[in-house]
Amino acid sequence: MLKITNLAKDFGGLRAVDEVSFEVGERTITGLIGPNGAGKTTTFNMVAGMFPPTSGEIYFAGERLDGKPDYYAFRSGLVRTFQIPRPFGEMTVLENLMMAPQHQLGEQFWNTWFRMGAVRAQERKLRDQAREILEFLNLDHLAGEAAKTLSGGQHKLLELGRVLMSDPKMILLDEPGAGINPTLLGEIVERITALNERGITFLIIEHNMDLVMNLCQPILVMANGKLLMEGDADSVREDPRVLEAFLGGVPA
Ligand SMILES: Nc1ncnc2c1ncn2[C@@H]1O[C@H](COP(=O)(O)OP(=O)(O)OP(=O)(O)O)[C@@H](O)[C@H]1O
Ligand SMILES: [Mg+2]
Repeated sequence: MLKITNLAKDFGGLRAVDEVSFEVGERTITGLIGPNGAGKTTTFNMVAGMFPPTSGEIYFAGERLDGKPDYYAFRSGLVRTFQIPRPFGEMTVLENLMMAPQHQLGEQFWNTWFRMGAVRAQERKLRDQAREILEFLNLDHLAGEAAKTLSGGQHKLLELGRVLMSDPKMILLDEPGAGINPTLLGEIVERITALNERGITFLIIEHNMDLVMNLCQPILVMANGKLLMEGDADSVREDPRVLEAFLGGVPA
């Protein structure tokens, strides 16, 4: 579903991502792990179109995405969440979902002027969809609360909800488990699994090894900007290069 070849990114003299190639199969939950500074988020940013790669190619569902602005990825059904969630704190949880980017009639000035009926119908549809998603995420009891009152874990769920509003084919999650209590973590894992069963493909950056080992198959390992290996949980666990990378050694 997603294919990247020889992807590289330089920041000044620093090569953050160094000739990385991998594929993410349709309907998989693929993990992306590696020590701090390995180049995981930079890889995500290029895939999602936040900035262009220095070199290399990105294909999503057969369409070439590298060098195209982020709405290309978004429009073809590829969405991302951020390592640090960015909700609109003063708005309610429900409004945050309704404000999530999508093809929305009401955004166009002339539509709001001449086609109030159509805009209202669209807004009702949005509201229904947002409610459904909040229910699915067990956040419906918080629909009317200001987003800034949510806990860290609830923010992660809210951000998942926001990307679900666009009806995506593939979701890039950057550290869904960071700063989350074990109960909520279990809930997020459950929701990801349920969404995956409905057909959504996931690529997940995560430092929580329990989460990765239980949820992700296959697992990609990056270190120092390079792809170190790819395999199932057991082969990753047993690979001496992975251990070395996480202990701060220079990968072979
Ligand atoms: N916008 C930027 N400008 C300059 N350097 C950057 C930028 N973004 C990332 N880097 C550098 O690129 C390297 C890779 O960073 P990246 O954020 O991709 O790592 P990561 O694997 O996501 O790490 P972490 O697990 O800590 O989130 C790091 O050395 C980082 O300092
Ligand atoms: Mg990161």
